[in-house]
Amino acid sequence: MERFNSNCITESEPCDDPVYMPRDWDDHTGWDRYYRACSLQKGEPFLSITDIFALFHIEETIKRLKERGWKKCWFPGCGISSFPRLYAAYGFHVWGTDISQAAVEYQQSLPAPTEGELHFFVHDFRCDPPETEFDFIENQRAFQGLSRLSMGKAARCYFQSLKPGGHAYFDTINVRGRPKTTIEEVLSEAGFHIPCYRSDCWYRDTLDSTGIEYAFGWNAPYAVEGSGLFGGLRRRFQQKKLDRYHVEYCMRQQREADETEALWSDGKTRVAHVLYNTG
Ligand SMILES: C[S@@+](CC[C@H](N)C(=O)[O-])C[C@H]1O[C@@H](n2cnc3c(N)ncnc32)[C@H](O)[C@@H]1O
Repeated sequence: MERFNSNCITESEPCDDPVYMPRDWDDHTGWDRYYRACSLQKGEPFLSITDIFALFHIEETIKRLKERGWKKCWFPGCGISSFPRLYAAYGFHVWGTDISQAAVEYQQSLPAPTEGELHFFVHDFRCDPPETEFDFIENQRAFQGLSRLSMGKAARCYFQSLKPGGHAYFDTINVRGRPKTTIEEVLSEAGFHIPCYRSDCWYRDTLDSTGIEYAFGWNAPYAVEGSGLFGGLRRRFQQKKLDRYHVEYCMRQQREADETEALWSDGKTRVAHVLYNTG
């Protein structure tokens, strides 16, 4: 079990705080217990830190979605997020679903927006979709912690629920490297087009094959400081290698984006975007 914080996704750490989110995201009873323990005040809106940060981009995001003529959307695993309500307030027709009865009851207790449409109900996103012909899906941090089996089932459900040409957005927190590859693999197997998938896989495999210990900063890899007499020297040598691969990656990514850009708006291809956030 992990400690509750407003981000919903935390490192597990020993803590006296009694409110925990389940470590196993397939633990449905755990999710319900977690939301009940959050002492949510029915009828009183709650805004998490993550939601507050996302608000900085909301106007731009809504403009982009409306430009495509999109109206109908789904927030699977919405928990207690304010975003389904916010999107409805911008005129979208929104479905917000979650496995937790407590989260859904809380969402239903809040005042209905004057614009759009808003439907909240309990639903398992590993089963049949609650509706079809969605223009887009906003999966806010409700994917990365699932088992691979559940990810696969959920991915197929999302694919079926979207209209041809629809897009699915997957917000993740601190997901890079192998875990990101797994998410993209699962979505690709379900039939989604993942922008720059080939170049991203190439990049991750190539970096791993160097055997260099690296981390990411400002979207580029840096070699982790080596220890011992020659640690600094070795690090500089490794960094040069990482820099070369990074330049090649940027070129491959641009080329792939140019080649596949048409798929984003051909009205047939369902596209999945896996978005990185830090938290
Ligand atoms: C980390 S929380 C994210 C909640 C919310 N989207 C947010 O960002 O604040 C993951 C959510 O996924 C929900 N969930 C887990 N498994 C699910 C399933 N099979 N079907 C529907 N919801 C599920 C949990 O109840 C929980 O609300």
